[in-house]
This record gives sequence, C-alpha cells and structure tokens, in this order.
Amino acid sequence: KNPDLGPWKVANAIQAVLKDTLGVDVLPKQRCVRIGRAPFVFNVLVMGETGLGKTTFMNTLFNTDLTEKIAPKYPQKTTQVTVNPANFELKEDNVTLHLSIIDTPGFGDQLNREKNLQPILDYIDTQYSNYLTEENKKTFRQAIPDTRVHAVLYFISPGYGLRQLDIVALKELSDKVNIIPVIAKADTMLAEERDKVKQKILKEIKLNDIKIYSIDHCDEDELKEELKEHVPFAVMGSQSLVDNGTEKVRGRKYRWGVVEVDNPEHCDFIHLQQMLMNTCLQDLIETTHYKHYALYRANHMRKDGRPLSVLQCDEGYDSKSAPQTEDSSDEFTRKEEEMRQKFVQMVREKEASLRDNEEQLHQKSKQLMAEIEAERRQLEAEEREIDNLLAQRDQMTKKPSIGKK
Ligand code: GTP
Repeated sequence: KNPDLGPWKVANAIQAVLKDTLGVDVLPKQRCVRIGRAPFVFNVLVMGETGLGKTTFMNTLFNTDLTEKIAPKYPQKTTQVTVNPANFELKEDNVTLHLSIIDTPGFGDQLNREKNLQPILDYIDTQYSNYLTEENKKTFRQAIPDTRVHAVLYFISPGYGLRQLDIVALKELSDKVNIIPVIAKADTMLAEERDKVKQKILKEIKLNDIKIYSIDHCDEDELKEELKEHVPFAVMGSQSLVDNGTEKVRGRKYRWGVVEVDNPEHCDFIHLQQMLMNTCLQDLIETTHYKHYALYRANHMRKDGRPLSVLQCDEGYDSKSAPQTEDSSDEFTRKEEEMRQKFVQMVREKEASLRDNEEQLHQKSKQLMAEIEAERRQLEAEEREIDNLLAQRDQMTKKPSIGKK
C-alpha cells in the first residue's frame, strides 16, 4: 500500500505525470499562511558516487518518473562532473512549490578530487552571486528569483562509512549549504550493520569537523526529536510494487523476503521525506538565506572592501526569529534595528558586568582595610604589653639600690 503521500501535484507546465499523489506531506498550516500566495521555491542538489541510486530515490520521493527531466543523463561515460538542474512545479490549493532537482552526474568517477567537486562549488556560488546581483539592483518590490541550493542530499555508499572523497567534499560544502547525509541502498545492510555504519559516519563527521544541517532549528519540537535520531538517513529507492504477503507495497523483493520503502522498520525513507518536504522545508530555505547566503554576501563585501552590512553571517541563526517577508528593504531595516538592539543590549550587559566587578573590588578592598586595621590594633596591643613588661622589669631592678641607701 502506498502511504498517504499528501496533496502536492506536479503541474502541467512540467508535464511530469504523477502516478499517484506526490511523495510529500502537506505543509503545516502556519507555513502556508506565512507563505501566502507567493511562489515557494525549493532547490535540492543530489550528489554521490555513480550508481548509488540517486535517481531512483528522487523518483521514489516524488513518486513519479523524473528521469527524463533530469537531462541530459550521463554524457557518455562522464569525463567531467556536470550540474543539471531540472525544474518542476508542484501545486496544492493556493500554494505553489517550484521544485528544482539538481543532479550532478560524474561526481566520484574521477581520481582528481578538485575536478570532482569544483563544478558543484561553482554552481552553488554562481546562484548566490546571481541572487546578490538581483538584490543590489534594489528593486525591492519584486521577489528575487531564487535558484540557490537549499539542501544537498549527499549519498554515502552503504557499508563503509565515509571515503576520503566524501570527507573532502563534505568539508568543502559545509560552510556553503545545508548538507543532509544519506546512506544509499539501505536494503543491502542488516539492521545492526546499518546502525554501526550510522555511528561510524557520525563519528567521522564529528572528527573531521563537518557541519551538517541541524534539525534543531525546525519548528516542530516533537517531530524533530524523532527525526534527529535517524541522521544519517539510511534510505532505499524503488517504485516497484511487490507483494509482502498481505499487500502490495513499494519495495524490493529478495529470495529471503521483501524490503519495504515506506516501512520505518526497514529504512528511514519516510523520515527523510517528512523532514525534507514538511518539517524542515521552510527552515532549510531560511537557513540558506540567513546563514549560508549571508556568509557568501559578507565575504563578497569584504573582498570588495565594503563595510559589512546588517545581513551578516550568523552561526547561531534561528529560523524562528527570521522575517517572512519578501520585501528586502523592510527586511534590511528590520535586521539593522535588530542588530542595533543587540549591540545596545551587549553594551548594557558589559556595563552591568563592569559595575559588578567594581563593586566586588570595592568590597574586597574594604575587607582588606579592615583586616589591616585589626592587625594594626593587635600590634599596638602587643607593643603596649611589651612596654608594660619592660616597665615592670625596670622597677624590679631598681628596688635593691633603694635598700643600699
Ligand atoms: P547514476 O545514474 O549512474 O549516477 O546512478 P544513480 O545514483 O542515479 O543510481 P540509479 O538510480 O540509476 O540506480 C543505479 C542502480 O541501483 C539501478 O540498477 C537501481 O535499480 C539500483 N538501485 C537504486 N536504488 C536502490 C536501492 O535502494 N537498493 C538497491 N539494492 N538497489 C538500488
């Protein structure tokens, strides 16, 4: 049985006919309200070694055949990595989602690592650069076409953990985009094997200081805790319906049994789907704008020798506090005011802490003075006592001379 896949539909414009409703759940209501009728853009870049099942996975995710659209498919045994965006339009009631799936055939096929990654890094930067150019035109009332990459699904080979190429690529991408690590072909691993590989990958990510997308910023507290447990997502892809003994399900049939795509006990497909197309969709877009793009913009301005503006890179970015307006002018003013208030607050806190320190020093000096005074009194008392003793001794030594008289 196919899961309840939600109401997104690929519009005619793209002529990708869905076999069923799309593999996306409904956006939570408040997000739809926030977005209103404005076109809603989401760009996902898919990368990983050839043959890991990226295309099959995307087809499974959107429950349609995107293959022809992600063209041109592999230029005769790839001599270089190419970056192929394919655009789709998904509609639900008043909300339109412009989805772009960016395929990167050839990645991992070459020995030269720089050659492998550079076209992808260039593509990401070019989209930031295009956005910045539009932004600088200051046509505030118009929404800027957004082709920036909002998420990178990075496919990792099952069974081994990260290879050197993965580490190099993930490190390079870390500061540029939201990385979502995905273990491919989860059906080829036993459950214990899968858990071990997940632990190994998480360890390698930490060890190599790779920053992957953090689900923590998403709105939905209950869901995000559950989703976090599944990172890196071990997924599989298949649109074939197979018989699991009781019903027809999407999955892969083996001699020993059936592995089901939509069964959370078999793989993390539905968790990744939930995270990507629902729980974290809005946050991925906002994190791209307020963190990664802001960093690009700040670096760009630094290179130009221009002062950093209000939209600076923000490591501690929290999408809940991010503005939802399309109007860059208002957004800038608001952000500037926010920064000013933050600065005033910081100065106040610093002043308060200096006052505290001063008070502490004052108390300490008072205490020291009191101690010195007590010591002085003590010494005086001792001095008096010694004087008394000396006087007594003098008196005692004088007595016999009186007797002689
Ligand atoms: P390229 O198109 O060569 O870059 O590969 P890709 O990563 O897009 O993989 P693709 O989807 O073309 O799948 C490659 C092969 O792996 C096909 O034979 C698929 O049937 C198979 N495959 C895809 N997904 C899975 C999976 O989840 N499990 C298993 N066991 N096989 C898969």
